[in-house]
Amino acid sequence: MTECKVGILLSGRGSNMMALVEQAHGYTVAMVASDKPAAAGLAWARGRGIATFALSPKGIGKAAYERALEDALREAGVEIIALAGYMRLLSDAFVGRWRGRIVNIHPSLLPKYKGLDTHARAIAAGDAIAGCSVHIVTEELDGGDVLGQGEVPIEPDDTPDTLAARVLAAEHGLYPRILSAFVAR
Ligand code: GAR
Repeated sequence: MTECKVGILLSGRGSNMMALVEQAHGYTVAMVASDKPAAAGLAWARGRGIATFALSPKGIGKAAYERALEDALREAGVEIIALAGYMRLLSDAFVGRWRGRIVNIHPSLLPKYKGLDTHARAIAAGDAIAGCSVHIVTEELDGGDVLGQGEVPIEPDDTPDTLAARVLAAEHGLYPRILSAFVAR
């Protein structure tokens, strides 16, 4: 049986991408792509022999950037796209062409705290529990169906950074598990 080919999009460190590669069950990471050619995650993927694609939209515009990205993903045979710290909004047209086949991990218990600064907002709200969500990507920011969530406690002395580290560890367990279940559905 051939495994589902996943393409991972990232903009930085890439720790979720590493977790997806190292805990891959039922899928193969066929490409790691980035809008930031200097992203640390790209070098790690290259070192693992994974095909990479890097292009900055700066100067060429979003439409040309997304076309080139999509060509590379299709060339690599990618069937499912997993966003892993990809800090750029995909256009509605792109999302439409891949409808139901893009997933994302977000560092909050959606529908709480869509967008940025999730940890600071959870602490400021006095929440006792924080966490992360894997969801389908739609045209609405962080608004698609939630496929799975992981919870962590918020400790009294937490800062956004200490909470982010605890949530990130939960992300690394959650994302590969949910992606495996998603490709097997
Ligand atoms: C992760 O915490 C991920 O949930 C978050 O960025 C971090 C990327 O870390 N994503 C978003 O905020 C998306 N809106 P990583 O590069 O080490 O995986």
